[in-house]
Amino acid sequence: MNMKDSQWWKKAVVYQIYPRSFCDSNNDGIGDIPGIISKLDYLKDLGVDVIWLSPVYVSSGDDNGYDVSDYRAIAPEFGTMNDFDELLLEAHSLGIRIIMDLVVNHSSDEHEWFVRSKMDKSSRYRDFYFWRDGKNNGPPNNWGSVFSGPAWEYDTGSGQYYLHLFSKKQPDLNWENKDLRDEVYDMMRWWLDKGVDGFRMDVISFISKVPGLPDGPAPQGALYGDFGPLSVNGPRIHEFLKEMNREVLSKYDIMTVGETAGVTLDEAKAYACADLSELSMVFHFEHNGLVVENGTKWSDKRIDLCELKRIMAKWQNGLAGKAWNSLYWENHDQPRSVSRYGNDGEYWEKSAKTLAVCLHMMQGTPYIYQGQEIGMTNTVFNGLDDFLDIESINAYYEFTENNLVPEDVMLRRLSKEGRDNARTPMQWDDSGNAGFTGGEPWIKLNPNYKSINVRKQRGDINSIFSTYQAMIRLRHELDVITNGSFTLLDPDNNKNFSYIRETDREKLLVVCSFSDENSTFDLPDDVPKDRILYCNYESEPFISGSELSLKPWESVVYYTGL
Ligand code: NOJ
Repeated sequence: MNMKDSQWWKKAVVYQIYPRSFCDSNNDGIGDIPGIISKLDYLKDLGVDVIWLSPVYVSSGDDNGYDVSDYRAIAPEFGTMNDFDELLLEAHSLGIRIIMDLVVNHSSDEHEWFVRSKMDKSSRYRDFYFWRDGKNNGPPNNWGSVFSGPAWEYDTGSGQYYLHLFSKKQPDLNWENKDLRDEVYDMMRWWLDKGVDGFRMDVISFISKVPGLPDGPAPQGALYGDFGPLSVNGPRIHEFLKEMNREVLSKYDIMTVGETAGVTLDEAKAYACADLSELSMVFHFEHNGLVVENGTKWSDKRIDLCELKRIMAKWQNGLAGKAWNSLYWENHDQPRSVSRYGNDGEYWEKSAKTLAVCLHMMQGTPYIYQGQEIGMTNTVFNGLDDFLDIESINAYYEFTENNLVPEDVMLRRLSKEGRDNARTPMQWDDSGNAGFTGGEPWIKLNPNYKSINVRKQRGDINSIFSTYQAMIRLRHELDVITNGSFTLLDPDNNKNFSYIRETDREKLLVVCSFSDENSTFDLPDDVPKDRILYCNYESEPFISGSELSLKPWESVVYYTGL
């Protein structure tokens, strides 16, 4: 078979598992692979086609697995390679595929490559990383790290600095070195030969750096220079990915998704080009950026619905027919969507359902992050001690010690945007620790697990869970969801998000209120209203002439088959 023909991933729905927080089988407080196996029937019932497994490799644990010290071994807290093989086998027997997280912009500083590169300047591994002399008694350039502080760490042993765009335990790998690239390709083949179904590629847009590593722009008052223009979508990125595709990806019937932070529409057309010469699809970040103010996501900024619609429509129309898109509100780095975009109080249930409808009827491959399907919300933080994530803790000190923001304001902003919101344990039931563990959980539970949990929703046709089931089913059944064109309606309406999907045989009208109030919506002529495929209220919306009256957070999907 020509691997490019299959493209099964265009009709698939992906479920992301953050293993540490999913299900703990041995009561050590940390989720594990046998725990995942025990929940495969749940995922089958939900209807998803693919699991994206966040890293389960041996790691130094500075960034919850995104600092890999052995790419071919399973971390003991998650189980054994036998457990992994069993997971793959059982998932496949249920028709569920598994994609792995590929974290190769950087390794851990405990990876053998780095240990040897640090120990011995003449080792072949030295050039697997970016080792440079300092400049003017300081680091080689002005770049700041994503996790605060400089992007360089000094090593007294060799008298040089090494580059780390993330934590100092995550040294950047040097993709200019062909031996390093070959090692990575070898490791990828090893997993693919085992039978995994693809990769989600961590910050893959960062792997090509501008030679010479010059200073980045530093606006007045900035603590560090921005590495973005010199390291994101860099000069050789497409050459590297085409090589990877030629040597590895094109030989297997798999899916790949690039975490392409900083991607533009034009770049995405290259990364996820319809000719499949690089990756199957990309994650763009533009909608997450709506909270950014003064260059930081640690803000109080509310999301503007018209802006959100403009961005989503731009990606729908911009990639149509040219490249493939991914659809997501949540992942392990983002706050919970019902708290960020919806109303996690009075309209918790309605808004969680509306978010599902609004996203899942678009073009692209949808991703559901564990717990999203039951409307899990942001959690409660009572002080800095409640934060475990390196990004939040480092940002707290950087912002408060440099008097950029008062402590209470920073805590409020961390509570709103912090990644720990996504990492509280999965809420399975209302028993102790929400059925996640019989031990002491590694991170505190969200206190609302007694009311928001799987047991309460699974089997209830009016639940958020059932809405997700319905959305997945519709995607599997209706070609228009995969292939239809997209037309945004009423772009300046700041109370609802509505659009049309259309092929020459089918038409969908999706109307979603994003408001706590009643609102009206002007129906265009010739919209398909024949059949309602989904509505999140018991009675359907009232239509008078061309005016549709919507209740708070109401969503409806109308269908016409031609
Ligand atoms: C992106 C991952 O999603 C995030 O969790 C991680 O901290 C960074 N890349 C570094 O690997």
